[in-house]
Amino acid sequence: MYLNKEEERIYEGERGWAYQIAMKILVKLGDLYEADKLILIDSAHISGVSYKTIGDTAIEFLEALVKAGAKSKVRSTANPAGIDYNHLEEMVTLPKLHERQARIIELYESMGINPILTCTPYYLRRPREGTHLAWAESSTVIYANSILHSWTNREGGPSALAASLIGKTPNYGVHKSENRRADVLVKVETDLKNEAEFGALGIHVGRILKNEIPSFEGLLHPEENQLKHLGAAMASTGMSSLFYPCTSCPKSSDTLETLSVDTNDLKRAFESLSTTDEAPDMIYIGCPHCSFEEVKQVAQKIRNKKVKDGVKLWVCTSRYVRRKTESYVKIIEAAGGKVISDTCAVVTWLKELGVDVLMTNSAKTAYYAPTMNRVKTIFTSLDECIEAACQE
Ligand code: F3S
Repeated sequence: MYLNKEEERIYEGERGWAYQIAMKILVKLGDLYEADKLILIDSAHISGVSYKTIGDTAIEFLEALVKAGAKSKVRSTANPAGIDYNHLEEMVTLPKLHERQARIIELYESMGINPILTCTPYYLRRPREGTHLAWAESSTVIYANSILHSWTNREGGPSALAASLIGKTPNYGVHKSENRRADVLVKVETDLKNEAEFGALGIHVGRILKNEIPSFEGLLHPEENQLKHLGAAMASTGMSSLFYPCTSCPKSSDTLETLSVDTNDLKRAFESLSTTDEAPDMIYIGCPHCSFEEVKQVAQKIRNKKVKDGVKLWVCTSRYVRRKTESYVKIIEAAGGKVISDTCAVVTWLKELGVDVLMTNSAKTAYYAPTMNRVKTIFTSLDECIEAACQE
């Protein structure tokens, strides 16, 4: 990969160890994927924030970067952590976890990374169409490419951090227009009624397509929230970082290979994500973190109802959306639910909170929770989640 004079000097260590290691990460990645050069980015979004997922070795690395004077070059934001410090009564209360998690957040912050602790940074600031980004967190990446029309590869935590420090990313993958063309036409031969069905479609398609780019036919007037669930699920079972919700997209050839999806495919996807028929002890809404509309929807559905004793209802969103939806948050909390920020069911310590059976409308959470959280899952629509959470 070509480096200009300034980039070479950083590579040689003229600006210190932190920037040298960041440049080396980018060059390694660029060489691996045959990038021609580094390109400027508008922003970086960094994953690897929860102490549960990164552990002590990563903290040592972050400590070393901070000590060496690392500072972000571009606007940068951080993914959810393992704890919501404003809802400690709902969190695992081990002092070591609290202290370690707080240290991670502090380290990112001292590098100039905004600790918004959400996987939906685009609700705070929508990047412009066509801008290059270095975003980590697969659901965030696929949303950026497919719905916001900005351009980002699926970064890992370290490469997004390196890009944040340098302000650039290697030019390969979906940063190049020739790699953004659809490979497969997915014909959806059933009407999708809710976000869970969009998630089920994503799970099914991701399993089959792996890293191919689909163009969907038959999604009638999908809402952004529904597409968010589709993308998050597709990026869980597959490696795609881009899809086209309709057929008006650049294609890799005139006649695309076709994949048809019908009701039975969706039924199988639902079944694969439900591992029990026991009663849930937690109902979880908010993966990816809820939008304004989604918090409102939950409030409207739960108004004048009461969450059952012994059942937790968590609605996860960013602090930003929580503030903007205060009146709806009050309705949800009056019913006995909790509107949690800064974390999510997957990156916190669920089992240690006494959760054994998790019900969710998120295909992504239902996919990861059995392995990442060792809980049993029930995957269903928001309506059924609210019904199961509340007393008759
Ligand atoms: Fe976001 Fe957590 Fe889901 S980070 S995409 S809410 S697993």
